[in-house]
Amino acid sequence: MTHIPHHIAIVMDGNGRWANRRFLPRVAGHKHGVDSLRRCVKACAERGVAVLTVFAFSSENWDRPADEVSGLMELLAMALTREVPQLQVDGVRLHFVGERAGLSDKVCAGLAQAEAATQGNTRLVLNVCFNYGGRWDIAQAAAKLASAGEPITQSSMDRAMALAHVPDPDLLIRTGDEQRISNFLLWQCAYSELFFSTRLWPEFDEAALDEAIAAYNQRERRFGKTSEQITAPAPGLKAA
Ligand code: IPE
Ligand code: IPE
Ligand code: MG
Repeated sequence: MTHIPHHIAIVMDGNGRWANRRFLPRVAGHKHGVDSLRRCVKACAERGVAVLTVFAFSSENWDRPADEVSGLMELLAMALTREVPQLQVDGVRLHFVGERAGLSDKVCAGLAQAEAATQGNTRLVLNVCFNYGGRWDIAQAAAKLASAGEPITQSSMDRAMALAHVPDPDLLIRTGDEQRISNFLLWQCAYSELFFSTRLWPEFDEAALDEAIAAYNQRERRFGKTSEQITAPAPGLKAA
């Protein structure tokens, strides 16, 4: 029986190369990236994934050419209004994760509206990491605790992080044939299983998702223990 990961995180990489190969502007690749995300959200909901966290714009992506950055901002603003009705149908609750400072008032208002509109949905939690960086998250959590005079411990940090509302990802997928984290969930991916797909994000379809889930099913998650400890029958149970 296939074990479906409770929480899948994805670095959606490869939109620019997808567009370049078709002699299209990079922003066209990002548009197809939104289509791919829509398909992926639906596929995750259908498979019983409870949480999907996607990396849409990193703290470092501000350094891209100005027209690409503004294209991405426009795309987000547009997606916020266009996609919400389908999210309602699919029972998806949206959370935006990242630094709001630096985003336009229009984008911030759209984010707040989309979060409020979907807050009653319970089938799938969709965390969209936008203007997000793993280092930013660790630093903001520590700063929040320090200013409240709270001790900095692993559990207080867990509670202060931007993804405190969900458990850590079980499976982290990166598309686009790159094998790096690029400042994504540095704190939360301590024990996530990693899967690197050669597909570019706009080409990441249901079959590619199933391939990642199948690979995840082949892993033995040991969390520091030995293999024997993991496979030993529970106390009181006889070995088959
Ligand atoms: C990922 O695709 C989307 C964002 C970073 C916003 P890229 O735009 O990084 O695509 P490549 O890596 O250039 O192909
Ligand atoms: C990571 O992709 C960020 C997102 C997918 C939003 P990048 O394309 O920015 O990562 P690098 O620069 O190749 O490491
Ligand atoms: Mg990239």
